[in-house]
Amino acid sequence: MAEEKKLKTLATGDKTIPPEGAKMIPIYIMGREYVVPETLTIMKAVEYAGYSYVRGCGCRGGICGACGTFYRFIGDYRLRSGLACQTVAEPNMIIMQLPFFPANRPGYDLEKMQSAPHEELRRLYPEVFKCVGCGTCTRTCPMDIDVMDYIALMKRGDLKGAAIKSFDCVMCGLCASRCPAQISQFTAAMFVRRVYGKYILPKAAHVKKRVDEVRSGKYEKMLDELMSMKQEDVKKLYVEREREPDLAEAGKWMPKDTKNL
Ligand code: SF4
Ligand code: SF4
Ligand code: FES
Repeated sequence: MAEEKKLKTLATGDKTIPPEGAKMIPIYIMGREYVVPETLTIMKAVEYAGYSYVRGCGCRGGICGACGTFYRFIGDYRLRSGLACQTVAEPNMIIMQLPFFPANRPGYDLEKMQSAPHEELRRLYPEVFKCVGCGTCTRTCPMDIDVMDYIALMKRGDLKGAAIKSFDCVMCGLCASRCPAQISQFTAAMFVRRVYGKYILPKAAHVKKRVDEVRSGKYEKMLDELMSMKQEDVKKLYVEREREPDLAEAGKWMPKDTKNL
């Protein structure tokens, strides 16, 4: 039985210390078998097996998209996908991480667009318009984004809809790696979000106001005071600062001390 196998000698890596009596499970990393404690994420299991990450690992919190991973279970034909830092390793998982995927990344200058945004999308990413609607990208996305739908919105010219729908993308590239139409969905979506932010979304008046205040030197005196303080006093100030409550209604909360706003 696989569970009875002894733990192989470890070479290097940031090894997690398993709790006493942890059940050991067999997994396969790049085709080689390892026995690791259950409950570890794929990322920690890979490290436990002796590997050290130099690429393919960033935030460890499901945000950076550096750890896209494909896996299959022995005896199951389905190819599955996830983020290595978020997916728990399970027995008989055959794992391969895909830390980078070569996508279509045309250069563009948002300040010098040659035509309307939808036409620019067509010029830069013509492949978007060849989507066959297979849904593979949506099934592959570890962020549960309806990728096929945002591609459909792009085709229709609804760039606002596509920008909003793709907002949670972590740029892992897994969708693009499986697209039969060779679409780089995530880089096209990044272009659309940039266009949306620059040309479609109304400008945030409060940001402009604050930028103008910063430029006018309004905060220079306060910053000078902070710079002249002892490190311990700065730490105390930070720890004792008045904080916005977690569930404060947007735009309703104000600190009691407003002299530096
Ligand atoms: S849309 Fe594509 S690149 Fe973005 S998170 Fe989903 S699979 Fe990854
Ligand atoms: S995988 Fe490619 S072709 Fe299939 S729905 Fe997604 S974008 Fe369209
Ligand atoms: S390491 Fe950043 S998403 Fe996994």
